[in-house]
Amino acid sequence: MTRTWNLKTPEKIGETVKLNGWAHGIRRMGEKLVFIDLRDRSGLVQVVCYKPDLDEVSLKEVDEVGGEYVLEIEGVVQKRGEKQINPDLPTGTVEVAAKSFKILNACKTPPFEIDKDTIGINEELRLKYRYLDLRSERMHRNIILRDKIISFFRDYMHKNDFVEIETPILMKGTPEGSREYVVPSRLHDGKFYVLPQSPQQFKQLSMVAGFERYFQIARCFRDEDQRGDRQPEFTQLDFEMSFVTQEDILQFTEAMFIELLKTNFPEKKITTVPFPRLTYAESMEKYGSDKPDLRVDKNDPNELAFTWVLDFPMFEWDEEGNIAAKHHPFCSIKDEDREKFMKGEDLAGIRANAYDLVLNGYELSSGSIRIHERELQKKIFDLLKVGEVEQQERFGHMLEAFEYGAPPHGGFAPGIDRIAMLLAGEPNIREVIAYPKTGDARDLMMGAPSELPEKSLSEVHIKIK
Ligand code: AMO
Repeated sequence: MTRTWNLKTPEKIGETVKLNGWAHGIRRMGEKLVFIDLRDRSGLVQVVCYKPDLDEVSLKEVDEVGGEYVLEIEGVVQKRGEKQINPDLPTGTVEVAAKSFKILNACKTPPFEIDKDTIGINEELRLKYRYLDLRSERMHRNIILRDKIISFFRDYMHKNDFVEIETPILMKGTPEGSREYVVPSRLHDGKFYVLPQSPQQFKQLSMVAGFERYFQIARCFRDEDQRGDRQPEFTQLDFEMSFVTQEDILQFTEAMFIELLKTNFPEKKITTVPFPRLTYAESMEKYGSDKPDLRVDKNDPNELAFTWVLDFPMFEWDEEGNIAAKHHPFCSIKDEDREKFMKGEDLAGIRANAYDLVLNGYELSSGSIRIHERELQKKIFDLLKVGEVEQQERFGHMLEAFEYGAPPHGGFAPGIDRIAMLLAGEPNIREVIAYPKTGDARDLMMGAPSELPEKSLSEVHIKIK
């Protein structure tokens, strides 16, 4: 017999079904009756084990069953009496009268209760036993919601003629801003790969390669200090388009988010459509922030206040006075500021064609129209005080590619974790990532990072100081 999902049982009244799942709750009523709430991925269904109806083997197993045991049950779906209907349960109009009952695997007493929300449980414990934490209803729902979002984006991109291209995870160290994760090379003594902090350069090179519309559900890696909305590895809906203006990208993105909400989250309300637009300068002046929270009612879990923030400065300075690119060094300069840029004057006043999408006070996405001309790209590196030799070493491939018919292009990269967090109404992105890391970048379940045997280190020419 093929297995029936619990959720499908109301469609099978009078039929014999085979169910699989976990013993979510067990209630023993006197000598003869045991009620089991059986949980599978689709939800719960009540199974009634009336002992006189069971064979000997099943009887023994019913007596042994404990919480979270893995079960296989065959039985008949029957309508519940009017008074027994549970309106809170999608399968609450039926129950399954067990005919045979088999334990597939036992379960130790879990370190915390899985049949309740685990949000109040010590997070280190939840992360150590993430596979149990993920069984809880809220966590299960969050992971499925995330899948829905990603699957919507994939479809939307394909419908709009984007091509998904997988770009390398092992790449060359060319810091764009954040600190990179380093991977030693075994074949090349003393040399290293790094993990991409985003596919920025590959997506631009894919425009030079003539794909015109690229996207990727891209894993990014950044060795930076953690916060509630930051993880060392995270996921972007990364995309890039050729022959577009900033306006094209804004309109495309806005329509995509509106469609996502309309089709998958109809309960959500967008505060203002079209999304309001602020310049960076206006946002800083009016709200003292480049990610203002423009919700009308911050207590309404369904309110979503999107805002565009445009015209970001090209450059910024750290505490020691070192110049850096505010977004990254590949942004083009606004026409109005081009003269200042060419003369290298008033660097603080030079604005890029760079934009952010902000949602409820979080930076959801950043992007820009890029430079596609070698000389302008070199000029940026010059102003960033990247010397000639270093330019060649770190970015020579980009400069060279721009000499081979690079089309004008631009793109964007919404963070999937932050979108899922806001749509799930969760306080941090760890709640919407199946296997996240702790605040100090550890995986408590696997125990990463970990030491390596001497042999593995010596193969990659590494000696620990
Ligand atoms: P940026 O660095 O702004 O731009 O990143 C884009 C979006 O990615 C998400 N994000 C993160 N999410 C979780 N943890 C992190 N540590 C983290 N860092 C960033 C945010 C952010 O808005 N290549 C450019 C994009 C482009 O120019 O097209 C880039 O990566 O939601």
